[in-house]
Amino acid sequence: MKRIVILISGRGSNMQAVLDAKLDATVAAVISNNPAAGGLELARSRGVETVVVNHREYPDRASFDLVLGDRIASYQPDLIVLAGFMRILTQAFIERFNDRIMNIHPSLLPAFPGMDTHRRALEKGVRLHGCTVHFVTPFLDSGPIIIQAAVSVLPGDDEPRLAARVLEQEHKAYPLAIRWFLNGRLAIENGRVRVSGDCRYPGAFIAPEPA
Ligand code: GAR
Repeated sequence: MKRIVILISGRGSNMQAVLDAKLDATVAAVISNNPAAGGLELARSRGVETVVVNHREYPDRASFDLVLGDRIASYQPDLIVLAGFMRILTQAFIERFNDRIMNIHPSLLPAFPGMDTHRRALEKGVRLHGCTVHFVTPFLDSGPIIIQAAVSVLPGDDEPRLAARVLEQEHKAYPLAIRWFLNGRLAIENGRVRVSGDCRYPGAFIAPEPA
């Protein structure tokens, strides 16, 4: 059985979607940099081991990443799933787990890397917004893309409404990308992901929608 470690910083709804997806893998641990992350209690209630590595207890990124990496490595994961993990990881950390770290980002990358993606999408007036699951490289929010799901930006949208609609897609897209990984269907070739077999994604749609 393949092994997954999930990293969270907050409420953990993507983590929950992964746990609910009944993947053919063991979630060996949920690790948070934030002792107050709501997702920790949720993970415990599902019988998943939880660990806190509080970044505030370390003088710099390098020392935090070293300890975090050692804790992760102790679970011997095949895949590390960043699920709302709000820390920038060092190159050394990323290279240690090369091609085994996945992230979900709440925009259609390469648009809107970084923070406040929904606010920025609304400010720009984009008609399509969404989420991206990608492998993690040392360059922020720019690793090889595995799956994207798009939603329409509607005239009455504010940040919470748009975020909720994107989040609904995140909860479908992330488990699917992880399932493809676990089934050995993802290959990285020249910085792009090739998905073997059927990769239709029934949850995605293209906007603007017909009137
Ligand atoms: C999600 O929307 C995720 O895409 C985003 O944080 C949220 C976490 O929610 N991640 C990032 O912005 C990473 N740069 P969750 O804790 O309920 O999964």
